Amino acid sequence: MDTAQEQGARATGLALPEMPFDFGDLEPAMSRDAVALHFSRHHADHFDRTCALARGASLDQLRLDELIVAAARAPRLRTLYRHAAEAWNHDCFWKSLRDGGGGRPGGLIGEVIDARYGSYERFVRRFHGAAATLFGNGWLWLTWKDSRIRIVATAAGDTPLARGHTVLLALDLWEHAYYLDHGNRRGAYIRSFLDELANWAHADRVLRGVAAGAVKSYT
Ligand SMILES: [Fe+2]
Repeated sequence: MDTAQEQGARATGLALPEMPFDFGDLEPAMSRDAVALHFSRHHADHFDRTCALARGASLDQLRLDELIVAAARAPRLRTLYRHAAEAWNHDCFWKSLRDGGGGRPGGLIGEVIDARYGSYERFVRRFHGAAATLFGNGWLWLTWKDSRIRIVATAAGDTPLARGHTVLLALDLWEHAYYLDHGNRRGAYIRSFLDELANWAHADRVLRGVAAGAVKSYT
């Protein structure tokens, strides 16, 4: 029998993207259990709810990014916006992780970070500082908007996509993202992301796409 997730995907035309890696591929930086639970209990749940709410609002033919932009403008679609944003945010998050990632980036992304923040070390301090401004659950982003790289924090079920940012990297700062591996040590989780997991190659590809005009407001 099909899962509710598969039925939802077929009924709405929305598709839950495949994970870009196997659940255990990020060990030991991020455990198999943490990735599996995160994907199957949180990401998939937001996706299923998005499908059901989009169907109810007759918006089920839109792509996920289009759905978010449309729902962001309509107060009556606030619940749909939050679930769709969370589903899309998680897509960005998985693309932002890779085995053997992290460290000082090279390429265009490295040049842009150095030009904007002065050095990678200063960027890291700003990244941690932005996380500290976030009270409770939310997300930390590295984005591109108006020809400038930005560190952005968003609370709970919000997304910078709705305000026209192109996402270069996404870090899930909901407690469910790190509690299994790091307990309540959110700073250790952020350090692990920057030192071991950040997919700079992905960020560089998106940035080059923006620079060439091939990427607009989504990854
Ligand atoms: Fe999450």
